[in-house]
Amino acid sequence: MSEVYLAVYSIADLCLAPIETIITLFIIKYCKSSINIKLIATKQDLTERAYIINLSNFAYEIINVNEIPYYASLCELPNIIINKNSCVAGLCTVLRQIVKDVSAEQSMHYCNKLLGFKGSCLMACSEASIWTKFCEVDLILTLKSLDKKDLDRPELPISLARFECHMSQPVKLHNLYKYTMCKKFAALNIAKQDETGLLEHTYAEGTFITLADIIIFVCMHILLNTFSNETILKLVPLTVKWYNRMLTDEFIIKCLNYLPLLKSHNLNMLEYTFPAVVNESLYKSDPKRYKPRNCVYTKQEDIEHSLELVEDINISMKLDAEPFGTEINLDWSDVPFDATPEGGSLPPARLQRKQEQLQNLCKPVLKLAKAGDVIVDFCSGSGHLGILIAYLLPGCTIILLENKEESLNRAKKRVQRLKLSNIKFCQCNLDYFKGDFDIGTSLHACGLATDLVIQCCIRKNAIFVSCPCCYGSLQDCHQLTYPRSDIFKKRISNKEYSFLSHAADQTHEELNIKTKQGYRCMTIVDTDRKLFAEQFGYKVYFAKLVPETCTLKNHLLVGIPKDKLANDNV
Ligand SMILES: *[C@@H]1O[C@H](CO)[C@@H](O)[C@H](O)[C@H]1NC(C)=O
Ligand SMILES: *[C@@H]1O[C@H](CO)[C@@H](O)[C@H](O)[C@H]1NC(C)=O
Ligand SMILES: *[C@@H]1O[C@H](CO)[C@@H](O)[C@H](O)[C@H]1NC(C)=O
Ligand SMILES: *[C@@H]1O[C@H](CO)[C@@H](O)[C@H](O)[C@H]1NC(C)=O
Repeated sequence: MSEVYLAVYSIADLCLAPIETIITLFIIKYCKSSINIKLIATKQDLTERAYIINLSNFAYEIINVNEIPYYASLCELPNIIINKNSCVAGLCTVLRQIVKDVSAEQSMHYCNKLLGFKGSCLMACSEASIWTKFCEVDLILTLKSLDKKDLDRPELPISLARFECHMSQPVKLHNLYKYTMCKKFAALNIAKQDETGLLEHTYAEGTFITLADIIIFVCMHILLNTFSNETILKLVPLTVKWYNRMLTDEFIIKCLNYLPLLKSHNLNMLEYTFPAVVNESLYKSDPKRYKPRNCVYTKQEDIEHSLELVEDINISMKLDAEPFGTEINLDWSDVPFDATPEGGSLPPARLQRKQEQLQNLCKPVLKLAKAGDVIVDFCSGSGHLGILIAYLLPGCTIILLENKEESLNRAKKRVQRLKLSNIKFCQCNLDYFKGDFDIGTSLHACGLATDLVIQCCIRKNAIFVSCPCCYGSLQDCHQLTYPRSDIFKKRISNKEYSFLSHAADQTHEELNIKTKQGYRCMTIVDTDRKLFAEQFGYKVYFAKLVPETCTLKNHLLVGIPKDKLANDNV
């Protein structure tokens, strides 16, 4: 049976809690989920607004903050623990899991359709999807900071205005035909089309209710009741219309009983204005999303200009002669089948190269790890690297961190077959991971994921062993900006840097003239990463994998924090 861990600030029938807890409990009730609820009494963060929920009809267990099981302490709250070895975190992922569990128990459950067409509602992570970011980050932040409004210039919260604009835009569907033909939804009231044939929003994602509506409903219920009726009816009429439609759902009405409102009198003013926001749909293919084809249009002259700027920086961009740890012996004949890439069902054509990649990353870990270390394999996929390390280092704990459930399920099967007991699983984005660890690894973590990994390792003063990938997709996110290092930041703008990262992906054909330039750009981007880590006192080793041909993206960065350098091996 799964357990959900939630932060609360007070334990009483009327319980004060962060907004994520309120939304999660609301959905547990909405779906009549029987998941075990564990409330963790947490010290209130007074900089964030808290909300109230009536706990009298919930069954729950209270857990002291020092008694949280290890699994649940690895990731931010709320999280769900499955089989006592797997932690699911991130608000949208947690809520999806609750819905999935009730759907798995009862195939005709009324919540089945909440996950939307193909079960993909809010599945993309917030870095990749504006919609997930809106539901999981932006809207949540609005609720947390509601008390900090600038009362001299009263404007409605940006998230409320963005949602109003979203609802005024036509419904975005990737394949309307397939969607209307899909049997599961055939019975649902499809389509109120305007004269141009565009679908209007009945619900947040289109014509039927999804998990996104419920998350937004809880937030909007609080927001709409915070501002005066005159204001909201005038400024956000479509949101009010949607809200009233949500109120026709009998389960929503029932759940509202658990959600008493805290009146905030100082916000109940009459004269609010509509803030300046882009009038656009929030549910769309993300324009910032990585499309390799776009890189072709980076102009050669722009790349050359950026290359000149880098030349002027006058720092060494030399790679080490050989990768860190290359002298360590790793005998594949000692490794059981299920811990090899072949046992991970890799196609035969890729086996040899995959083995070579894995041993390049594994060797520095074997060289640096001490008994008892916690090692996190970030973006672990189905566990090729993490499982190999776990087998070779039985005295260490290995955490496989991956946000794709399917990949992690494949890893779990391999781990079962190998009977390894030193592996734990985290199904989440890496920003929700908060456990302590000693070494972080990532093999071909896409684009900015490599930088998130390095940043996460630096925060925990951990060693990193990273082989980057997808340079062309590097772009700022709410956690980091490019270039990374102060030295680069002073000399080259974000835009100029982006020409280099785009060009760094052009290493595909060996004879292509772009390839040489591509490798130069890869070296520049990874040198910037190296300089960034050095700012934090890291010693960074930077070399090509051996053999160089084992992958086109063949750079290895090994960073060791100052206080771990004392180790005689280094
Ligand atoms: C909490 O809910 C219970 C049961 O629905 C109800 O009897 C009680 O009055 C509620 N408490 C408050 C303070 O609203
Ligand atoms: C606002 O709406 C609520 C519910 O519809 C109603 O009870 C209340 O009287 C209204 N307030 C004003 C000031 O119109
Ligand atoms: C946004 O654009 C739609 C038409 O595309 C329009 O109907 C709506 O009024 C606009 N909303 C705002 C707030 O400007
Ligand atoms: C570049 O740096 C080297 C040593 O770091 C120095 O000797 C050289 O003068 C510098 N060149 C320029 C053009 O600044």
